[in-house]
Amino acid sequence: MKTALVTGAARGIGLATARQFLEQGWRVILLDRDVPALTEAAKGLDHGQPCICDVSRPEEVQAMLAEHFPDGTELHALVNNAGVADFGPIEETDFDRWRRVMETNLDGVFLMSQACTPALRAGRGAIVNIASISGLRASTLRVAYGTSKAGVMHLTQQQAVELGEYGVRANCVCPGPVATKLAMAVHSPEIIAAYHDALPLNRYGTEDEIAAMITFLCSEKASFVTGQIISVDGGFEATGIGLPALREEA
Ligand SMILES: NC(=O)c1ccc[n+]([C@@H]2O[C@H](COP(=O)([O-])OP(=O)(O)OC[C@H]3O[C@@H](n4cnc5c(N)ncnc54)[C@H](O)[C@@H]3O)[C@@H](O)[C@H]2O)c1
Repeated sequence: MKTALVTGAARGIGLATARQFLEQGWRVILLDRDVPALTEAAKGLDHGQPCICDVSRPEEVQAMLAEHFPDGTELHALVNNAGVADFGPIEETDFDRWRRVMETNLDGVFLMSQACTPALRAGRGAIVNIASISGLRASTLRVAYGTSKAGVMHLTQQQAVELGEYGVRANCVCPGPVATKLAMAVHSPEIIAAYHDALPLNRYGTEDEIAAMITFLCSEKASFVTGQIISVDGGFEATGIGLPALREEA
């Protein structure tokens, strides 16, 4: 049975991804730092194993490694999905705020991937890192969030280049807006309206639509795909100005 490790799996996109892996017959380690949410999420998931860990803390990542990945253990998919969103203007983003975003969104991806590399090599596995359209296009209030996600994209390419010789693939998924707890905490009514204006499909995506791309990239069907940055964004990245004016109902 293949094994996937999904971070930030207690809810949202991570939980949807864990469920899709389980439906496809994988064993899944669901990792999160939110103990009550993870305990609740893991209930009733056959072949789903909860793992409490904060991906931004090297000592917790090492403890996770010792518990779940003794020498020789194979890992077939690592999904670095855990993320935090904290939107604020540049002048109000003090260093603590900047670090809170970076330590999970960028440091966490580095730490988890490095820790899991021996098991990924053993399993000739795949890494999927979750960035964001906010890492592709600059926007207001996202100095820390957007920059952390741009870093994740380049980190993915570094991983693809360096780990390819071991049969390990690395790809990056950039979701457009999905109405999860993370998004709803930072999407004001103005931001929601702006997204609708900028999305050709004129709606938010669902957790399952993002999870479908993630599980595809981890599957044999994507065996020659590596180093790619793929938006699942309702067409956001493809658009320029004028979209709302062209809509029939506008
Ligand atoms: N929802 C969106 O609109 C959207 C858009 C683009 C990108 N994303 C990205 O998708 C990913 C998932 O987002 P979501 O919307 O499902 O968020 P969410 O807040 O619903 O879930 C995120 C999960 O990650 C966990 N987490 C956060 N920091 C952690 C840490 N340091 N260690 C372990 N667990 C941690 C949280 O406890 C939570 O369970 C994030 O990386 C986010 O940046 C989301």
